[in-house]
Amino acid sequence: MKKLLLLCVAGILISCASNQNTCALLDHALSVAGKQLLSMDSVADTTSGVLRSWDGEGYKIMPHTDWTCGFYPGTLWLYYQLTGQEKFCALAKKYTARLSDIPALTDTHDLGFMVFCSYGKQQECLRDSVSAAAILKAAESLASRFNEKIGLIRSWDFGPWNYPVIIDNMMNLEMLFWASEQSGVSKYRQIAIQHADKTMLNHFREDASSYHVVSYNDDGTVESKGTFQGYSDDSRWARGQAWGLYGYTMCFRHTGFERYLAHARRIAELILAQESIPEDGIPYWDYDSPDIPDTARDASAAAITASALLELCEYVSDEDATRYERYAKNILCSLSAEPYLAMPGSNGYFILKHSTGAASLGSEIDVPLNYADYYYLEAVGRFARRNNINFKK
Ligand code: GLY
Repeated sequence: MKKLLLLCVAGILISCASNQNTCALLDHALSVAGKQLLSMDSVADTTSGVLRSWDGEGYKIMPHTDWTCGFYPGTLWLYYQLTGQEKFCALAKKYTARLSDIPALTDTHDLGFMVFCSYGKQQECLRDSVSAAAILKAAESLASRFNEKIGLIRSWDFGPWNYPVIIDNMMNLEMLFWASEQSGVSKYRQIAIQHADKTMLNHFREDASSYHVVSYNDDGTVESKGTFQGYSDDSRWARGQAWGLYGYTMCFRHTGFERYLAHARRIAELILAQESIPEDGIPYWDYDSPDIPDTARDASAAAITASALLELCEYVSDEDATRYERYAKNILCSLSAEPYLAMPGSNGYFILKHSTGAASLGSEIDVPLNYADYYYLEAVGRFARRNNINFKK
């Protein structure tokens, strides 16, 4: 009995010490992140376009309607939430306000990323009517891309597909749930549920991994299943698996439907069991790339996975929560140090290095990406909340 007690006390002490180390690591990473975000402002302020990435010599600048336009303002909001430093609130407001014409767009399905990561975070922080109106407008625009007969929101308006739907589109549903909860209009929620259900039916394989692109015929039957950004039609594109995990976890939060929770857990188990993911938890850009280990990692996929797992922890048994949190913490610790965390003043002022946008297209390989930074800070926030860590000084 005495021995058992000693072992328990030793276990608690080790876990406290390890949490202190993690805390110090995250604290340091946040101080780097703060410097990078402020330096980024000096470039972004005078650039008409979105700073999406950096190739070591120059920025990849996208039109301001790019799907990633909400991430820099969103990252500033997340940093403000974490640290309480008012100057980040002012910056976040400035860059969010620049997106005022985005909610009216109807030629993109990425409105959730663009508007809910910017105005959505502003709404969370300020509870202001400008944000709420922007989100409701964007929800209406996104709903216009829903086809009743097919039962899904259309993703892309380009390419050889009849009606392409990509797994990433799960991420846009959060804004629809919010819009219904806020406005009382049930249409947005119904669209989100139909989209999530049909995606669950057709996007996933037996092992819970997902295709990237599923296209539909006009009668709602499947036209094709394949990939655009993954290694091959049958491979498991790392970020796609992360989008799915995050998407179904979030759908459970908004509906309480057990089928979404069960599905998210199946995806989580697939990821946790993945042998091609290295010890540091940062996957190669596609789990099935034949070039592993001589190919690029994707820190963005890791950050999204960590953030999703840290939410999923809240809905499962203590035993599973411990496993999911351990996995997420390992990712966060890896991302919060070399070789992933940038040195202040380097990396085009992005926070993280070593993400991959679309290796299959020869694009954005082993670079920083603005959305990797966003989901990293979101995951840090979720970890901090779970562990009662306060970064406000
Ligand atoms: N939503 C686009 C991507 O994940 O690359």
